Amino acid sequence: MSIEQNYDVKFVAALALREKQIQQNYRPIIAVHKWFARRPGTLFRALLLSEFAGKAVEETYYRAHSLEGITIADPFMGGGTPLLEANRIGCNVVGTDINPMAAWVVREEIEGIDLKAYARAAEELLNHLSQEVGYLYKTRCPITGRKDADAKYFLWVKTGHCRKCRREFDLFPGYVLAENARHPAYVLVCPSCGELNEVDDPHRPGVCRCRTPLTAEGPVHRNRCACPHCGHINSSPFHGDGPPSHRLFAIEYYNSDLKDKPGRLFKKPDRDDLARITEAESQWRRLKPSFVPEDAIPEGDESSRLHRWGYQRFRDLFNTRQLLGLETTARLIARVKDLRLRRALATNFSDLLRYQNMLCRYDMMALKSLDVFSIHGFPVGYVQVESNLLGIRNGNALPVGSGGFINIVEKYTKAKRYCTEPFEVAFRGKRKITVPVRGEWIGERNPERPEATERQVDIRCASATDVALRASSLDAVLTDPPYFGMVQYGELMHFCYVWLRKLMGENFPGLEFVTTRHADELTGNETAERGLEHFAEGLAKVYGRMARALKPGAPLVFTYHHNQQDAYLAVGMAILDAGLTCSASLPCPAEMGGSIHIHGTGSSILDTVFVCRQSGTTPRSWLFADAAGLAAIMSDELEDLRAAGMKPTVGDIRCIALGHITRMATWRLKSAWNPKLATQEKFAILRKAMNGIAPADAVMKRLEKMDVPVATVSGSLFDEDETEIFADAVAF
Ligand SMILES: C[S@@+](CC[C@H](N)C(=O)[O-])C[C@H]1O[C@@H](n2cnc3c(N)ncnc32)[C@H](O)[C@@H]1O
Repeated sequence: MSIEQNYDVKFVAALALREKQIQQNYRPIIAVHKWFARRPGTLFRALLLSEFAGKAVEETYYRAHSLEGITIADPFMGGGTPLLEANRIGCNVVGTDINPMAAWVVREEIEGIDLKAYARAAEELLNHLSQEVGYLYKTRCPITGRKDADAKYFLWVKTGHCRKCRREFDLFPGYVLAENARHPAYVLVCPSCGELNEVDDPHRPGVCRCRTPLTAEGPVHRNRCACPHCGHINSSPFHGDGPPSHRLFAIEYYNSDLKDKPGRLFKKPDRDDLARITEAESQWRRLKPSFVPEDAIPEGDESSRLHRWGYQRFRDLFNTRQLLGLETTARLIARVKDLRLRRALATNFSDLLRYQNMLCRYDMMALKSLDVFSIHGFPVGYVQVESNLLGIRNGNALPVGSGGFINIVEKYTKAKRYCTEPFEVAFRGKRKITVPVRGEWIGERNPERPEATERQVDIRCASATDVALRASSLDAVLTDPPYFGMVQYGELMHFCYVWLRKLMGENFPGLEFVTTRHADELTGNETAERGLEHFAEGLAKVYGRMARALKPGAPLVFTYHHNQQDAYLAVGMAILDAGLTCSASLPCPAEMGGSIHIHGTGSSILDTVFVCRQSGTTPRSWLFADAAGLAAIMSDELEDLRAAGMKPTVGDIRCIALGHITRMATWRLKSAWNPKLATQEKFAILRKAMNGIAPADAVMKRLEKMDVPVATVSGSLFDEDETEIFADAVAF
């Protein structure tokens, strides 16, 4: 019994799809620290149980499991999703990642912590922080006159200097600060006096109290901006050399006295608000910082954008109040004696950074801060948001707003509590039910159940191309490798790492590397001149090592998607070079449809799960010879995905097709495959095989002609007898 028999596309897709809408509600553990491109935990749980629990996945999914003695490896562990799922059901785990930040995060996720002691330490830190810098995050409520309302978000606009008249001007791409989804009206900034105006229709906004006509359109268009003082058309960069300058133009604040007032509270900064900035600056000048890194931002596919904006050092990405607040926080953390607690707080600090920098943007609809990593890059906008460093609690002690230390502590606490009290989420109709899975836990040992067997957890920061594992020691490899050039892990995590390393010290175990960048990172990267060959050869080495470490017939399972066919050549080559056969290619939603980096790009949210083995069986019905054969398989899968609640796009369907075509190409080529050929020759052979079987476009045309139903399919498909399907299996 195995994945090929027990996995169910519809059942798992429904879980994964829901998880990816709000992943923290399904897998709170991910809140220990940001990692990129985390695949759904539900998917990996389903894969593990399909392989090892011996029954159809629906029957085993919500039960507790204790699979002692099974060892699972993930060579590209990142934030650790597959490893955490394996560890939770009792397996031993071996994980590697080339990025020291990944190893740090996974250790933090798995290692137990005394949550009461953590809560005390976090509260103490917050109290001290509040005493030292809390007053910088207060503001006067213009409605009630209350002087100590909490500033939730400070909104800053970039400013430029006119090349002609030398005067400063604001760089507003638009004057809408808030839309009317979470607030009763639109909020527009007056271009002349800066007053905030509430209007019903942004297309007919009327005039400000100062009599200036309001407008939603800002002066910046396509990197050009007319100077409001002399009319000269300036082009970017507008600020000359060095990092851009900003002007505080609005504050969203919280006043518990007005908790029943609908919508949000906005104000134009008053004299005191501006004085707080000056105060932060003079405090900063008096301070000799010990924990603010001086590291330069290196060139990179993502990071060079920062250079183009004039940012040269990581510290340039923070305003003075943020630097002061972060230095103060770091000093307080450095004083914590208990090493486990210090590490936890330092992890919180590192995660907090993504909200405490001047690359964060304000979501005008949701009215919240979008952290720097809400897309997989370093987006620079004209309007930036600074969150309250401490965070805010309402009368019920619940966090208000996002991006403060309180928010991070709350999420971390939930994450660590989940380690000892894991759960799954089920649906009865539309009703969501949390199902505790008693008996499962995440960690090496369970302090609440000392009798429980200890699990081996082997976390390494190393290139998986070099990792040494004993032959026939693994029961499965479950991984989600980099998807060629989609995410620049090393470049992005460098942003947090320089601070974490400064805080904990460069000799601290796990932080010895100077940077998170590495020439052997298996990602396409133009700046580092890493192309598809580098990726394919590296992936092939890793899969080769994994294949040797797997027990006979044990699976190497990995997820993948890409919108370019060539990116699948690397996958095909790695499978074949490792001497593996792909016995299944299963579609599963793995990204969030509304996610900012996916939205509107036509990218796929679907992964193909490739199941590969040295020997095993595959259902004959999964083999196909041409586009028509593949379209028939896919129309069933698409029905399953729709029944699971997904609406596959053209991009999704193409990715499913490419997954199957890669599987079939490797199936056909395996007997005559020569791993010694040059990479480009292998690519040519694979490309020819893939196109010969079914060009993706031909499959798309076939599917277009077929009447693939859009409505939910009937239940009959899921009543099919699995063993009957497997009566006609092909051995390899
Ligand atoms: C898609 S991510 C994994 C995401 C992860 N499964 C999770 O849940 O967060 C791929 C990972 O591969 C790592 N990686 C890239 N090249 C590597 C190499 N040569 N050896 C080990 N890890 C590598 C990256 O640092 C990244 O963390």
